[in-house]
Amino acid sequence: MRRALFPGSFDPLTNGHIDIIKRSLPLFDEIIIAVLRNPDKDPMFTVEERRDMIQEIVLPMSTENCLLTVDFFSGLTAVFARNKGATAILRGIRTVSDYEYELRMALMNRHLEPDIETVFLMADEEYSYVSSTLMKQVFKLGGDVDGLVPAVVAEKMREKLGEGE
Ligand code: PNS
Repeated sequence: MRRALFPGSFDPLTNGHIDIIKRSLPLFDEIIIAVLRNPDKDPMFTVEERRDMIQEIVLPMSTENCLLTVDFFSGLTAVFARNKGATAILRGIRTVSDYEYELRMALMNRHLEPDIETVFLMADEEYSYVSSTLMKQVFKLGGDVDGLVPAVVAEKMREKLGEGE
């Protein structure tokens, strides 16, 4: 059983994340998309809202050979991955600057859990500038993020913005 954990903040899920998930489908039997419950950040969406959105968008993308599931966690990614029986941690890389941060994280995770490998996948160039942080910033300032986040996410972002007014 090749089970991978795809950890992240996913606040919100972007089309860059979806691209990584689609690319990883042929590589694993199961991918757990794991939303970090991060008390340090001031998120746009609660982890429950993020989980529900991801479930709605991503679960139908499961294939005959790869099951997609969604969960949330707090604490160390490496420990959660081990507890879930994952043998790989999946991360997407957009740019060289991502690589430096990701390399340090991967090496730390390997230090913590030597049997779990980090697998990096390169996102399509189309998404090289797409990050959750930029999506929120641009959206809040009235910019258009259609095509960069799933339609369901754009709709929920519009609702959030409405709530805040
Ligand atoms: O989507 P993000 O914010 O880039 O995801 C970062 C994430 C959640 C993968 C990273 O912050 C993380 O693993 N946090 C959990 C705490 C942890 O394990 N820290 C040590 C990793 S070096």
